[in-house]
Amino acid sequence: MDTVCRKIVITSGKGGVGKTTITANLGYFLSKCGKRTCLVDADFGLNNLDVITGVENLISYDVIDAANGRCRAKQALVQCPFDKNLYVLPSSHSFKSGVSPDGLKTVIDELFPYFDYILIDCPAGISGGFHTAVSQADEAIVVTTSLLSAIRDADKVISALGGYKLKSVRVLVNMVRGDLILDKELLSPEEVEGVLRTELIGVIPSDDAVMLSGAGKLPPESEGYKAFKTLSLNVVKNKNKIFDCYRQYSGFWGSLRRSLRKNL
Ligand SMILES: Nc1ncnc2c1ncn2[C@@H]1O[C@H](COP(=O)(O)OP(=O)(O)O)[C@@H](O)[C@H]1O
Ligand SMILES: [Mg+2]
Repeated sequence: MDTVCRKIVITSGKGGVGKTTITANLGYFLSKCGKRTCLVDADFGLNNLDVITGVENLISYDVIDAANGRCRAKQALVQCPFDKNLYVLPSSHSFKSGVSPDGLKTVIDELFPYFDYILIDCPAGISGGFHTAVSQADEAIVVTTSLLSAIRDADKVISALGGYKLKSVRVLVNMVRGDLILDKELLSPEEVEGVLRTELIGVIPSDDAVMLSGAGKLPPESEGYKAFKTLSLNVVKNKNKIFDCYRQYSGFWGSLRRSLRKNL
C-alpha cells in the first residue's frame, strides 16, 4: 500500500497520440489494483477525459471552478459509475478562463490526502498549459507513437521537463504496430527509447478495441486490455516489463494476419 500519493503527469509533444486514452485506461487499471485514483483534466479547452470515462452527464463543477474558489475541489470530483476507486476532476467544455499553476496547486493539495494516485492529463506541446500541469506533478510519462514527427516532439517535451524537479520521466509508446515494426517500416519501442535516451515504461498496441471502448470497457481478451494491465503493474511496482506487441504477428497465423493487414 502506498503511503504517499503519487502525482503523475501524462504529457506529449504531438497532439492525438493518446494521452487522454492512456490517462483514463491506466487510471482504471490502477483503481482495479485497489488504488484510490483521481484523474485530473488539465487539458483546458480540448478536454475529453469526462467523455472517455463516461461521466460527462454527472458534472456539477469543474477544475476551473475549483481553482478559482467557486467550489471545493472535492465538490467538483465525479466518481466513475463503474469503479468506486476511480474519480475524475473534469475540465470545462465552455471557454472559461484558464487555470494558473497556483490555482491547480490549491486543487491538487486538497485532493492529495484522499488518493494513492493523481494522474494529470496535460495539453500537447510546451505552452502555458503544459507548465501549469507539470508544475504540480512529481513524475512524468511522455506519450509518443513510433512516428518520427511524434518522437521529435517528444524529445522537445523531455528537454522542457528537464527544467522541473521530477522524480522520474519515462516514455510510453502508444499505437504500436507490431506488423510494421517486423517489416522494418517503423522504429521498435526499444529504438524509440534509445533515440529519446529516456527509459520506457510501457507500450500499448494499436488496437481497435482501445479506440472503440471507453475506460473500463475494454474486452479482457483484447491486446489493449492486456497491455494496460501490464502498464499499470509497471507503474505500481516501478518495473518496466514490456508488453509483447509482436506475438499476434508471429507463427503461421500471425504471418497471415500480417500480410492481410498489409493488403488492407
Ligand atoms: N492504442 C490505441 N489504439 C487505437 N486507437 C487509439 C489508441 N490510443 C488512442 N487511440 C485513439 O486515438 C485518438 C486520439 O487519442 P487521445 O487519447 O484523444 O489523444 P490525445 O489526448 O493525446 O490528444 C482517439 O480516437 C483514441 O481512441
Ligand atoms: Mg487529450
